[in-house]
Formats: sequence, structure tokens, C-alpha cells
Amino acid sequence: MAIAKTEASGGRQLLPEVLAFSSSLALDKALLLEDIVGSMAHVLMLAHQGIVPKEVARSIRDGLASVYEEVQAGRLQLPDEEDVHMAVEAELSTRIGAPAARLHTARSRNDQVSTDLRLHIREASAEVLRRLAELLEVLVARMDAQGELLLPSYTHRQRAQPVTLGFWLASHGAALARDVELFGFVLGQLGLSSLGCGAIAGTSLPIDRELSAKLLGFVGPTHNAMDTVGDRDFGMDYLYAASRLMLHLSRLSTDVIDYTSSEFGFALLDGEIACGSSMMPQKRNPDVFELIRGKSGRALGNLLGLMSTMKGLPAGYNRDLQEDRQALLETGPMLKACLHILGLAMPRLHFSAQRCKAALEDGYTQATDLAERLVKKGVAFREAYQAVGSLVRRCQEANLPLAKATLEMALAIHSAFDEETMESLLPENSVLHKASLGSCSPEALRLQRQMLWEAAGKAKALAGEVVGLKALYAQLKEVFL
Ligand code: ARG
Repeated sequence: MAIAKTEASGGRQLLPEVLAFSSSLALDKALLLEDIVGSMAHVLMLAHQGIVPKEVARSIRDGLASVYEEVQAGRLQLPDEEDVHMAVEAELSTRIGAPAARLHTARSRNDQVSTDLRLHIREASAEVLRRLAELLEVLVARMDAQGELLLPSYTHRQRAQPVTLGFWLASHGAALARDVELFGFVLGQLGLSSLGCGAIAGTSLPIDRELSAKLLGFVGPTHNAMDTVGDRDFGMDYLYAASRLMLHLSRLSTDVIDYTSSEFGFALLDGEIACGSSMMPQKRNPDVFELIRGKSGRALGNLLGLMSTMKGLPAGYNRDLQEDRQALLETGPMLKACLHILGLAMPRLHFSAQRCKAALEDGYTQATDLAERLVKKGVAFREAYQAVGSLVRRCQEANLPLAKATLEMALAIHSAFDEETMESLLPENSVLHKASLGSCSPEALRLQRQMLWEAAGKAKALAGEVVGLKALYAQLKEVFL
């Protein structure tokens, strides 16, 4: 418990209360593997540069490897230290003795924690991309299976125009496809290595930051040590991407919650994903979707929390930065869990074609199509809009859905109505006759399906470019010394 205590810092043991207050170990032990892998790269670089003797480096590297293996096996009891970095060093020192004292040459916990976090977020982002690809594929499969089912779309939460289930699925897929791009950006922001920045101003020892960056799968070293140790932009970018993704999942969830309510009645939750009530025996609740919506609030809170922590910090490292940990570490598991559970839940929504169609037929959602048919016959849009508006009003007065409007009723309003224009009152025609790119027509939807499929492929490719921790460890363990 005395690694970072010298006579200059008072020599004495920290008050237990101070240690407990300042320790980040409870949280940052989630960075154990990252910390060990970062240290392995660091010591290999030190040996390569002749800063520590090769046999010392070998002993450190092998000692770190033995800690790694025990962490993996779930057997490691961490020593009680201020943080994960000191705990690993203390554990190493117990295992290999004196050589461990050379590991911390030319680095500080300030560049170390930044390195660990970059490795962690890189790994988490790759995992998120893989799960995003899976969810996109689930949506596409659902489009293929039941994409043509007709249901109303909504604006202002009022029935708007007929669309297909495929179009609704693709609308949520389009947002997720943008998230693939965003996580690609996040990975880009994680490209550089902090290792070797030291406490704030670099080091007088002849380290090779290019080398340690390369050993950890980074493109190169960051540019300014003072900036690097106080920078969490990569964390904020990640939390923004996470919040936006969660917000998309939340909106999808809200639709599902609505559609499965008795008021809408469009879909039924499969028994495997519906939760019950402890009191009301009849309940079939969409808890999974509500939890996702609830967690999206946490994701957003995490982003705002980190931004508030950063605001107003002076240049360089400040201990405030340790408060980034909760937000950054809980986000990956949250995203992975939500994406995974949606992948399981979406195929278990049973849409009723009949109920959805009934919702179209007893309303007025085809009104725009009818007006556009008049436009095709040469009527000015505003005139057609007025004519159909009058027809809707007459239907409402007669307590009839628009689908039941007769040609006579229509002709009494405008002479351009004929048998053919009245065909657009069939909801399926509304969808079939859409002609614009991005619309709900089957042809436009084929392109959207293709785009989603490609986004899933891109997500997998981006994730595939990330060298995972396990692979890094395996490589570093074998580097010849
Ligand atoms: N536990 C610290 C953190 O997470 C590590 C860096 C500590 N640096 C220091 N100068 N006390 O931010």
C-alpha cells in the first residue's frame, strides 16, 4: 500500500479513510487485463531501447503474464491499493521481487490510465459494432419474413399514411446504420497511443513511443503529453455514440410498447419475452423494452456527467478525471446487453396483419394518396387537397371510414374523381404507388434493405480491424527478448 509514497509525500501511510475515499480500485479493476497488456508493451519497449536489461524485462513480462492468466481464470486476489495500476505493480513485486521495481520507468499512472481506457473503449466499441451488425441482420430477416404487412404510420401520434412493417423496421435500421458510422469515428479517435507521455511533460529517458504504440495496435503516439494526460475526448465521443445509439434503441422500444398495447393491438409479445405482474394475472408486459428506454437515460447521464467533469479542468492531469470511470466502464456492458436482448426480442414480436389492416381501414390514412391521384390527372395539389379534405369531412359526418367513400360522394365534391382515383383508397395501393426514393414502396424498400445489409457488413469489417486484448496478449507474450 506504499508504492506511491515517499518521504517527500510525507512518508507515512495514508489514513485508511483517505485511501478508501480516493481509491478507484473497486471500479478500475475492470481494466486489469488492459493494464497488464499495456505494461507488457511498455517493458518490451524499455528492453528494446536498452533502458532495462533484457533478463529483467523477461522476468517482468513473464510475471505480468502469470497475473494475466490468473485474472482470466478468476483466481487473482488483488492487493489493496489505490488503483489498478498500483495493484498490478504490487502484485508483480510480490511475485518476482526486485526486477518489478523497473517496470514504472518512464511512465506515470497518468499516461497509463489513459492507455488502459483507450484499449478498453476500443475493445468495447468493436464488440458494440459486432452486436450492431447482428441486430441489423435480425431487422433485415424480419423485413424478409413479414415486410409486406400493412400498418399505419404516425405523425403527431395520429394515424398518418399506410406503410409496411418492412418500412417501419428499415426506419429504425437506418438510424442504427448511422450508428455504425459513428462507432467507426469513435474507433478513429482511439487510434493514437498515450503511453510514454509520463506525468505531463514526457521523459528524459530514450523511450520509443512509436514502438509501444505499434505493440498495442495503435497507429502512432499522441502529439502532446500535456494534452494527452488531461484528455478524455475519446471517452466523450464514445459516450456520445453510446447515448445516440441508446436513444435509437429507446425510440424503437417506445414503438414496440405502443404497438403491443391493447390500444394499438398491432403485435403480441411472445411469452418468452413478456414479463408478468405480481398482482394482475392477465398482464403481458413489455418490461424488456421499458428497461432499454430507461437505460437510455443512464447513457445520456453518463455523457453529461463526463462532460461536466471535464469542463473547467486546467491543462494536464487532475484527479477529477478518475470520476470518468463509472460512466466509461458501465457503458460497454449496457450497450452489449441492450443490443443482444433486442436481437432476441425483435423476432418474438407477433404482428397481426389483420389488426394492423383494420387500423388502416377504419381511418383516413389514404387521403394523401387520393389527393395525389387527382394531381396525376392534372388537378392542382391545393385544389385536390381541399376536395379530399371535404370528402373526409363528409365521411366523418356519415360515420364512415374513407375506404367506404363512394364515387358518388366524391363526384359531388369534384368532377375529377373517377373509378381509378378511388382505387387508391385501398391501403395496399397506397404503398404500391409510392414512387420516390426512400419511400415505403417495395422497390424503394429493396434499396433500403441493401443499405442495411451493407451497414451490417461494414460494422463487422470495422470490428474486425481492431486487435483484441486477447490477441495483443498472445502476441506480446511471444515477442522475443
Ligand atoms: N487512479 C488514477 C485515475 O484513475 C490514476 C492516476 C493517478 N495519478 C495521480 N497523479 N494520482 O485517474
